[in-house]
Amino acid sequence: MSAYQIIKYLHSGLRFVVLILIVLAILQALAGWLGNKTYSQGNRKLNMFAMISAHTQFLFGLILYFVSPFVQFGSNTMKEATTRYWTVEHIAMMLFAIVLITIGHSKSKKATLPQLKHRAIAIFYILAVLIIIVAIVQSKRPFFSITG
Ligand code: HEM
Repeated sequence: MSAYQIIKYLHSGLRFVVLILIVLAILQALAGWLGNKTYSQGNRKLNMFAMISAHTQFLFGLILYFVSPFVQFGSNTMKEATTRYWTVEHIAMMLFAIVLITIGHSKSKKATLPQLKHRAIAIFYILAVLIIIVAIVQSKRPFFSITG
């Protein structure tokens, strides 16, 4: 197995961890925000692990960006849907989602009231997860399986 394949498996598999952690963080934030709950250490940790998983995914993605045969810079890159997607669209959408997660996490950290801490996570993580889902669907790769 080549280094490219190993990183691709890691990046592909980590998507499930990222998605599960973000969804759990969102459910917890909605329950806290709408149910007026306190902001616990458990809440803080889950929100942080979700962000760390997204940052790790970014690092794997960045390595892939340099080795993937689907990332090309040529006169046909923008004309072909597959190369356009992997060279431009995937990185743009995923980076935007990761930035949203980072902003939400930082806003939550700075807020003083528990309700505002929960709200920052809920709003920013929901926007991010929607973008990630749209990006994966647009890739035309299977949502729940790993390409060899
Ligand atoms: C939350 C963030 C991200 C998620 C959930 C995600 C998810 C995915 C998924 C599901 C695939 C398809 C894997 C397969 O076919 O088995 C993929 C491929 C890829 N990703 Fe990401 N990605 C993310 C961020 C990024 C970023 C930030 C970059 C670039 C810096 C990137 C670069 C790539 C590349 C180049 C491929 C193509 C691999 C290939 O088939 O050659 N990804 N990503």
